[in-house]
Amino acid sequence: MWWEIEGHLEVRENQLYIAGIEASKLAERYGTPLYIYNGNRIIENFNRVKGAFEAAGVKPRIHYAAKANTHLAVLQLLSRQGAWIDAVSVNEVKIALKAGFPVGRILFTGASVGNADLKGLMQLGVRITIDSFSQMRRMKELGFKGEASIRWNPGEGAGHHEHTITAGKFIKFGIPEHRIEEAFLKAKALGLDIVGLHQHIGSGWLGKDVDVFLETVDKTIAVAEKAEELLGKKLEFVDFGGGPGIPYSKEQKEFPLEKYARGIIKKMKAADLNAEIAVEPGRYIVGDSGILLVEINTVEEKNVPVIGVNSGFNHLIRPAFYGSHHEMVVCNNVGGRNRKSFMVAGNLCESGDVFNESKQELRELPIPEEGDILALLNAGAYGYIMSSNYNSRAKPACILLLNGKEQLMVERQTVDDLLTKEKELEI
Ligand SMILES: Cc1ncc(COP(=O)(O)O)c(C=O)c1O
Repeated sequence: MWWEIEGHLEVRENQLYIAGIEASKLAERYGTPLYIYNGNRIIENFNRVKGAFEAAGVKPRIHYAAKANTHLAVLQLLSRQGAWIDAVSVNEVKIALKAGFPVGRILFTGASVGNADLKGLMQLGVRITIDSFSQMRRMKELGFKGEASIRWNPGEGAGHHEHTITAGKFIKFGIPEHRIEEAFLKAKALGLDIVGLHQHIGSGWLGKDVDVFLETVDKTIAVAEKAEELLGKKLEFVDFGGGPGIPYSKEQKEFPLEKYARGIIKKMKAADLNAEIAVEPGRYIVGDSGILLVEINTVEEKNVPVIGVNSGFNHLIRPAFYGSHHEMVVCNNVGGRNRKSFMVAGNLCESGDVFNESKQELRELPIPEEGDILALLNAGAYGYIMSSNYNSRAKPACILLLNGKEQLMVERQTVDDLLTKEKELEI
């Protein structure tokens, strides 16, 4: 199968294996819906990013974008590898600290950052990226004494969906191109200690997007040089954000990591800068490490052939929200020849609750039996972390496989968990 990765996802005797363990057996042991992450694949992916830069002679700061998957055990695993953290909320910073990241290895880069957030961040002592003139002014008013960087919008973006493009026109993030020099001058006048420049043009790019990205790298480097002139000092780092994607479907190719890393390095070496290179990959590190197992409870001809499962967009929202493709695999009959096209329907009361890219695009699968387990692949990033309790359904359990061992990472919720913060009617 196109998605097989040796030692990670494999088909043996028509069964799906993850990290050498039969997926159906894990479903039996832990129940479904179940998120499974292969920790060794996470380490491998982290090392692939690091290796691509090191092969070109640079030790990068790899700020893992915690938003992709904020499980404590995943963060701890990445802390062990020497990762830094890109955090977008005070709670992400707190979780990263709990996971053992030193405060100096965390950079907060948020949007519409309010004073409550700023006070929280200042108490934690974390470095902050400035997203607006308003934020800069309020940081000064609140007495911010730490180090800061400035996020700018380099005018062009890329991403797998309109929602994930974060630079260009009609974008809420960062300081726009025509005001970036003003931003450095303002920060200097306010006495803020600016140590870095930040860009993030979007999430989930593949091949052709690297060229667009590298154009923004040129622009960012020019801005960094200008910033040093305006500030009268050298920058400590330039952060090029996240974005490298993974192939979710057969047609998509592997992300050209070498071209990406070499491109950044070549341009940085040619520049008049001594700044360290930072990048913020999230999806690339955890995306293909995780799968979601769901149980097939209905196989039936409705007005279309339907496979009903015990999960929905409350557990994996990417198909419903972005129209994203997630490969689906019948775990106990991966290559079955008796096939048919189905709507794979979730158990929520919404007609858009399907795991196909859309209601109209049916998915060809081996005809399953009720009780079979279906795996949704590439669910390690923006999966569990975007899940909800819609329809008062519990969030799934999550397990981690690492070095031939397995552990429960997140317990399955119960109805009591849904009620913990609820109050009885009192008035
Ligand atoms: C500031 C910032 N950095 C990094 C990322 C990570 O993106 P990705 O998971 O595509 O690498 C994001 C996500 O959109 C982001 O907003």
